[in-house]
Amino acid sequence: MLRTHTCGELRLSDKGKQVILCGWVSKIRDKGSLLWIDLRDRYGITQLLFDEKNKEALENARSYGREFVIQAEGEIIERVSKNDKIATGEVEIRVLRVTLLNAAKVPPFQIEDETDGGEELRMKYRYLDLRRNPVRANLELRHKMAQEVRKYLDLQNFIEVETPVLIKSTPEGARDFVVPSRMNPGEFYALPQSPQTFKQLLMVSGFDRYFQILKCFRDEDLRADRQPEFTQIDCEMSFVTQEDILNTFEGLIKHLFKFVKNIELPELPRMTYADAMKFYGCDKPDTRFDMKFVELNELAKGKGFNVFDSAPLVLAICAKGAGEYTRKQIDELTEWVKRPQIGAKGLVYVKCDQDGSYKSSVDKFYKQEDLAKWAAKTGAEKGDLILILSGEVNACRKQMNELRLEMGNRLNLRNKDHYSCLWVVDFPMVEYGEEEKRWFAMHHPFTAPKPEDEHLLDSDPGAIRANAYDMVINGVEVGGGSIRIFNKTLQAKIFTLLGFSDEEAKKQFGFLMEAFEYGAPPHGGLAFGFDRLCSLFGGAEIIRDFIAFPKNTSGRDVMIDSPSTINPVQLNELKISVNQ
Ligand code: AMO
Repeated sequence: MLRTHTCGELRLSDKGKQVILCGWVSKIRDKGSLLWIDLRDRYGITQLLFDEKNKEALENARSYGREFVIQAEGEIIERVSKNDKIATGEVEIRVLRVTLLNAAKVPPFQIEDETDGGEELRMKYRYLDLRRNPVRANLELRHKMAQEVRKYLDLQNFIEVETPVLIKSTPEGARDFVVPSRMNPGEFYALPQSPQTFKQLLMVSGFDRYFQILKCFRDEDLRADRQPEFTQIDCEMSFVTQEDILNTFEGLIKHLFKFVKNIELPELPRMTYADAMKFYGCDKPDTRFDMKFVELNELAKGKGFNVFDSAPLVLAICAKGAGEYTRKQIDELTEWVKRPQIGAKGLVYVKCDQDGSYKSSVDKFYKQEDLAKWAAKTGAEKGDLILILSGEVNACRKQMNELRLEMGNRLNLRNKDHYSCLWVVDFPMVEYGEEEKRWFAMHHPFTAPKPEDEHLLDSDPGAIRANAYDMVINGVEVGGGSIRIFNKTLQAKIFTLLGFSDEEAKKQFGFLMEAFEYGAPPHGGLAFGFDRLCSLFGGAEIIRDFIAFPKNTSGRDVMIDSPSTINPVQLNELKISVNQ
């Protein structure tokens, strides 16, 4: 090796040792007869001291610039002025010999924890951004998480099996990325949105417990927690009930929290989809804070306030301690809910004053005793603020969800170091697309209805609950799955409900239907979004920071400049003509 030690490991107990270190020049301080270099590698920073006694080394060091790659040999000595901010801060190397391994151009931004580089520039020079401690720490965390996932699942008898990347479209609801086939002109592979059908086939093969940490591809609009290529921890099990699956993967998440974050998670609470919608207005509630929805229909209607009288739903939340909000703050909040992204028509408030009286924006219609009833129902006390929205049921719940999260932010109730995990269960099997006028699978078409709801298949499909579940942490859907259909007749029936003709179903999924005729075991599983899990563990919301080479918000890799055009010869071979 070119070095005896790394830049992160030398301590005072090593004093007197002769060592060789390699790394990048992070900082240079030149005081004439003395010169110091902070030498950096993945493991840390060690200070190098150059003095007149070793003139050649001093002269060499003086010619170096930031990010030069060097090798330095010398003796470990105790530092005169110690640095308690770094682990190696008690020592430095008095350098006898130094060798330049490679010079470097001046980097386009500072390779420091707090850098001066903008997002776009750092993405273009991602390999330099990755030299920075916080970014590298994110990838180290990711590595540790992957190791712990493998450890836990291996102990539980799961086998890691690789499934193909060039496949046929899987219906997970997003658009596919497609790859043209040169050998089959006019035909395309699709990149997997998930390996759903393959893992089910592995169960038919008798693998019993499968997992894979793999890339999935979805051509959808990007957000902070979405990338076009992302990583799943994909799992499937045979001869299990929903209960077995929830327990197994609750075990995985507890293992990760314990061994990565040193946090003992309590048993994960379970919430039905219906309750999640009723009390939080979304299927991935952030349960770090309470502020549950309270329906005020009975108390608020019939008092002459037309807005509430004509609304199918009147919903309230109680913002604890926000009763001191000024008129200006409430006006600003009202404007906030009226933005097109939220779409509320207005916001009604009741301030619970310290003297026991109530001040509201609807004093004209409601007496103090009416407002006292609202306060009792919402659990509001002196010093609290009740916020009320009304309207169509779904729209009102959606708007209130946004307002609740916003109030959670404003009141600092969404601490990233505090974790609240739960299962959301009993999702509906299908939902109706008003525009398309047809049923869509809420999870995917292979999800089994609850046996007790199966009789509704012909009469009321929308009321069928599925054995489908999501794991939610701090308002983020980190994973989801279901018990699968393993019977050809039921699967065919579901395809018909979802609008597939027999022919289409056969063309797309004939292989799976046929497999079901060769002894398919009862099975089920789930997939975690690995990038999302890593970012949550790292206390961040943007998953990009936990991916070594991510895409930007337009789906581009600005470093390698992709996607890009391909040359006409390649296009010709693929029998593709591009109309520019
Ligand atoms: P689902 O579509 O719910 O289920 O995906 C599983 C998990 O993957 C994560 N995820 C994403 N992460 C980053 N970027 C994206 N674009 C993205 N899309 C999804 C989410 C999500 O919970 N085959 C089924 C699983 C199963 O039934 O076993 C599936 O893929 O965290």
